[in-house]
Order: sequence, then structure tokens, then C-alpha cells
Amino acid sequence: MTTTDAAPATAPGKPFDTERVLAELTLEEKASLLSGVDFWHTQPVERDGETLVPSVMVTDGPHGLRKQAESADHLGIGNSVPATCFPTAAALGSTWDAALLRRVGEALGRETRANDVAVLLGPGVNIKRSPLCGRNFEYLSEDPLVAGELGAALVQGIQSQGVGTSLKHYAANNQEADRMRVSADVDERTLREIYLPAFERVVKQAQPWTVMCSYNKVNDVYASQNHWLLTEVLRDEWGFEGLVVSDWGAVRDRVAAVAAGLDLEMPSSGGRTDAQVVAAVREGRLDEADVDAAVRNVLHLVSRAQPALAEPGTVDAAEHHALAREAAAAGTVLLKNDAVDGAPLLPLADGEGLVVVGELARTPRYQGAGSSQVNPTQLDDALTALRAATGAEVPFAAGYAVDGKDAGSGTDAEALRAEAVEVAKAARTVVVHLGLPASYESEGYDREHMDLPADQVALLEAVAAVNPRVVVVLSNGSAVTVAPWQGLAPAIVEGWLGGQASGGAVADVLLGAVNPSGRLAETLPVRLEDNPSYGNFPGELGHVRYGEGIFVGYRWYDARGIDVSFPFGHGLSYTTFAYGDVSAEVTGSGAEAGVRVTVRVTNTGDRAGAEVVQVYVADPQSQVQRPERELKAFAKVALEPGESRDVVLDLDARALSYWHPVLRRWVVEGGEFVVAVGASSRDLRGAVTVEVEGEDVRLPLHELSTVTEALADPRVGEQLREVVYGSGAFAEDLLAMVGDMPLAVIADFGMAGFDRARLGELLAAANA
Ligand code: BGC
Repeated sequence: MTTTDAAPATAPGKPFDTERVLAELTLEEKASLLSGVDFWHTQPVERDGETLVPSVMVTDGPHGLRKQAESADHLGIGNSVPATCFPTAAALGSTWDAALLRRVGEALGRETRANDVAVLLGPGVNIKRSPLCGRNFEYLSEDPLVAGELGAALVQGIQSQGVGTSLKHYAANNQEADRMRVSADVDERTLREIYLPAFERVVKQAQPWTVMCSYNKVNDVYASQNHWLLTEVLRDEWGFEGLVVSDWGAVRDRVAAVAAGLDLEMPSSGGRTDAQVVAAVREGRLDEADVDAAVRNVLHLVSRAQPALAEPGTVDAAEHHALAREAAAAGTVLLKNDAVDGAPLLPLADGEGLVVVGELARTPRYQGAGSSQVNPTQLDDALTALRAATGAEVPFAAGYAVDGKDAGSGTDAEALRAEAVEVAKAARTVVVHLGLPASYESEGYDREHMDLPADQVALLEAVAAVNPRVVVVLSNGSAVTVAPWQGLAPAIVEGWLGGQASGGAVADVLLGAVNPSGRLAETLPVRLEDNPSYGNFPGELGHVRYGEGIFVGYRWYDARGIDVSFPFGHGLSYTTFAYGDVSAEVTGSGAEAGVRVTVRVTNTGDRAGAEVVQVYVADPQSQVQRPERELKAFAKVALEPGESRDVVLDLDARALSYWHPVLRRWVVEGGEFVVAVGASSRDLRGAVTVEVEGEDVRLPLHELSTVTEALADPRVGEQLREVVYGSGAFAEDLLAMVGDMPLAVIADFGMAGFDRARLGELLAAANA
């Protein structure tokens, strides 16, 4: 050791002085720290039988711990230690409840800590660009605000337990097809406004210990070696202080990755890439300062993990199961609840005359496949939970088989259906469980269509033909087509993939023990063809073109007035809410502008419930095309029957801004903004128009600026007007023809006595 200090630089269970350790390391040791020692651990540095730098373990993520004690793989194949399988992000996103997600995060953090793991690999905040993305169940929303707010709450919760998170997959990883090579071709404004802000929000609000880069390329550069993403945006602009880890196997060129800001490569490269790093430094192709920067981040991670590792603590599995049930119920969305026989079908009064149909009620689908697959501590199914809660017999028929598994009457679809129809006939109310089989959605591949299996839809048709009192309960990790059959079910409950306690949660919602308060964090379109990415998903020949730009999800459907089955933000309750007048007060201007929105919300029904108040902003006067409306604030408000509350939501300047593609920064363009408050993107309850004093968003004039642009310039517009009209060379109606001509062309034509010299003067005056 080179140290002269008598005390060792590190001691078990204690954070250490990373600069001192760094100073002691050889180049080879430093390089070794930049990749894992195996699948799940960072490399230790040993000296003379002593540990100078300890190794720490990281594991998946995101909705539960998938710690592999023996075998190792990142595809969810091998077994893992039992852990609470909380609802997947699809369900958590539908809670719109940051406080609840913080509590779920705390529980996840406790389990991580109790299992001697330093970092839980989640949450995922990629935007649901297409319903087909095989991994949508791991993502929170189609909207960056929802994904960002909820992602930040999860990170804060997890990290409050002294362990870290890995915010993933950074960036523009919105499909599984060709995920390890495809280039997501996205313009900067779209990245800034849609695909990056959730990451930005989580980084700024919660400082995740790590960020995981994605496999794909972004505009032709692998995320793992993308200096712009990993250093300029993430660190320099957003102030990220943690470590950047590669997705498992995402590194193509390790030396380029170090230079770009990728600190830790996972899993182990068997020393191969460490040697490349050493050689690159020795040969002057890589700055040792870049290596040091990466090593610092690794050391910082290992150091900050020590206290929790020294005191792992314990987990109350029953308590976590109860929380998983609460979260699953909170993320359940009551899509529809029409009256039958004069009253809404739900909640069910009791179990009398109740029957359940559908294999998924007995064999729940509660999480997705792949690296996020958790080995649950226990597993509820809805059938047992309904029987337990009602004390009733609740007859059951499988109705269909899932993934070819025998459902009881052989796998003959017709026989299963016939049996279910017999059961349904005799019932007062039939709960029909439908959903996507596991083989439909998984990490590693995308869905081919949005539909439920045909035999399930046939079952619903057959059951609805004999009994009008049909409640459909859905289990799926991403939007499914409901339009062809939704008319057959007066009530539809979207349960998503709700984790190990989802069975109990479904019973809670159906029976009214929990008043549903989930809201769609993704639109349910009528047809796949209506989705904005249709035609540009999943791309071809190594490229996927994000041709819809910023018009993702409801931004697209609203801009085009396309009917949807259920809109973004939608979700019913067993009570009703009334909105008072909306008021909005502007403070500040330009980059300091803000708007305080106030609305009084009243629970007008007879049971306690929670409403998600949503604020949408439109900017009708702008240099660039902007969406019809964008969610810019939301709050979940719990109200007792008859209770009213003034809900106050603050919009900052960013909420009014767009990313200016030419100035390459956020701008608040002055003028009118419409601030609407609603219960969904299609159920606006009130709106006000406010006038905001904007920033100077004039572009510098140059030779190729057009006549129209120059005429609009406050400094030289008048002067040019003189030239154009004063000479009599142009009549006003000719402007339409010359308006798009560059000034240089007018000058070179010598039109209206305007020449290069005058152009020079004009530009100087304009840009002074
Ligand atoms: C996934 C990551 C995961 C990692 C480790 C990768 O295949 O994309 O989300 O954290 O494996 O299992």
C-alpha cells in the first residue's frame, strides 16, 4: 500500500474517504472497479489479504426484490429469494398517489436492505409510446409528469432506507424489439419534452444513487457511450451526483463509454474491458481523469452503501403484503359502472348469487416476465379472496385456458365456455376475469396486437348472452382493446398486473371495502391503428423513427380529436365529485413566471373517496406547434362525504415552457395560456385563460432569414417595411409570394433597391 496513514482506508460497515482510497489505487485497480465481478456484484479491491474496497450487490427491481442467491441471469429464469411482489408500475402509475408510492418505496427499501443488497434496480420511467411495448408493465405512464412525480416518490422511499435505486432505462428505450441495437431517432424537442423529463424530474427531486443507461442507440449513438446524454444533460444540466451503470450487456465500446460518462459496466466482462481501459490510458487514447471520475462514482456508491449493509434490519412480510394489497387496490381503475336494474352494478352488496368466471380469477397473472420477475412471499387469487370476504360459496368456472394450461375440462375451448355459461345462467351477477396470458407480454419482445385472446372474448359474449349483470375484471400490463366488447359489460375494472396481493385488492374494490380511486396513466385507444406510433413501431433495419414527435398518448388523440375507449386520466369512483370555479393567478414573468391554480372540489356522494384533480395547460399562441393540452399538475385528494376542499396547484415556468428547437433551451413564450382543470384529459370541468408575460424568444436575423421573419422583428421590421412597400415595388398582396424569400435573395436580385450593403446594415441593427 502506498498509504502512510496507519489506519486502513476502509473499514467494514463504515463510509470511507473516497479521495483517499482513489489516491491509493493503481491504474489496474481503478479499471477493475469499472466493471462487475460477476452478475450482481461490484468488484472488490483486495490487498495483502485485506479488503481495500468492498464489493456490493445490486439486484432487480423494480416492483420487488429479485435477489438471486445462487444462479444468475437477467431474464427472470433462475430462482430468487422470496420477496414481496408489489404491484407492477402499470398499477402503481394508475394510483397517481405520490405519498402511497413513497410508502411502497420504503417497503422496497427495507427488503433491499434486509437482504444485504445495496441497490434496487428500478424504477423504470420510460414513456409508454406504444401499447405494444413488451415491458410497459414496468413503466409508469405515457405522460412524463406522472412518470416523473411517481418515479421520484419511489426513489425517495427506497433511498430513505439507506439503499440505492437505479433509474432506468436512460433513454428512449420504448420498445423491446431489437432493443440492443435499434437507434431511436428522435428530435431534440421531443426528447426534451417527452422522453427525458421524467428522468430529469427524478434526478432533480430525488437524486437516485444510480442511473441505468439503456441498450439502444439514441440518434445513432449507443446510450452507453452517449456523452451528450450521460454527461452533458444528466450531470452538467440536471446536476446528477450518482453513478451511471450500464444495462446488463449494454456496453459495446468500453473506452468510448468511459469517456462518455458510463461509470460501471455490468455484469462482469471477465476483465476483458478493464484491460482495454488500462491500455487506452497508457496509449493516450483515454484521459486518466475520465477513469478517475468514474472510479470516484463507484467508490462513492460502495461507501454510501456501508451503513445499511452493517445493519440490515428485518422485514415484516405480512405488513408488506398488506401494503401491496392497499397499493393494488389504489391502482385499480374503475373504467365503467353502468346502472343495471336501476343501480350501478358495483359495488357488489354481498356474495349472494355471485359467480366468478375466468381462469385468471383462480390463477392470477400479477406480474410480467423477465428481469423484474419476483418470487412472491405469498399469493392471493381473486376467487379465494371473494369467497373469504363474502363468506359465500361463489361458484366458479374456468371458461378458458391460459397459455395452453389445462383449466379443468381439458383444454377444449368450447367445453370450457359451455360450462361457464351454465354457471353464469344461474347467477345474479357474474364477475368475468379476462386478461393477457403471460406469453403475451414480457421483457425481450413486444406484443403483436392489442387484443385479448379470442377465446376470452368469446367467453364474455357467451356469458353476456345469458346474464346481463356482467362485471369484467382485467389483468394486463398495458392497454388492451376493449372497444369490441365493452358494450357487453356494464362494469369494467382494470386491475393491471397488481402484484402478489392483487386478488385481495380486486375483492376489496368489487365489494366496496375500497372505493376505487385509480386513474388511467395511459390512454386506452379504440384501435391499435389510432396509436401515434402506428406505422413507426417498432421500426426497421435498425432504426425506429419517432415520427409522431411530441404527440404521444393523449397529446395525439386530443390534437386529432380521435375517439378513445377510455381517456388518459379517467377513472370512476363509488362516489361523485363536483368542481367549483377555477381561478388562476399569474406571478412573475418569463423564466420566473408561475401560475397558482385553485379549484374547490366537493365529494357530492355518500361515501368517502379520493379524486385526482388534473391541471392541463394549453398555449394557443406560439411559434411552434403545441399540444391541445398537457398535464402540468395533479393532486389526489381524499374527501369525506359532503366535504369540500380548495385544491391549490402551482405551475412553474417550466410548466408553461416548450423546448425551443433553435434556441435550444426552455422558453416561456408570452401570450395567453388556457389552464383547464378536469377529472380526465377528456372531462374538463373548468378553464380560465391567463395572460403571461413571456421571454424574449426572438431569433437572431441572418442572411437566410425570410422577409416575413424580418418584418416581424421589432427592431428592424419597420425599416424593412419601408423598403418593401415604400419603393412601390411590392403591393401588399405580393407579400404572400415574397414572404418566404430569404433576405439575401432579395438583396442579390437588387429588388426594391435593396442590396447586400443594406442587408448588412439591417442585420447589424437587428442583432445589435
Ligand atoms: C434489464 C434491466 C435489468 C437488468 C438486470 C436487463 O436485461 O433491461 O432492466 O435491471 O437486465 O437484470
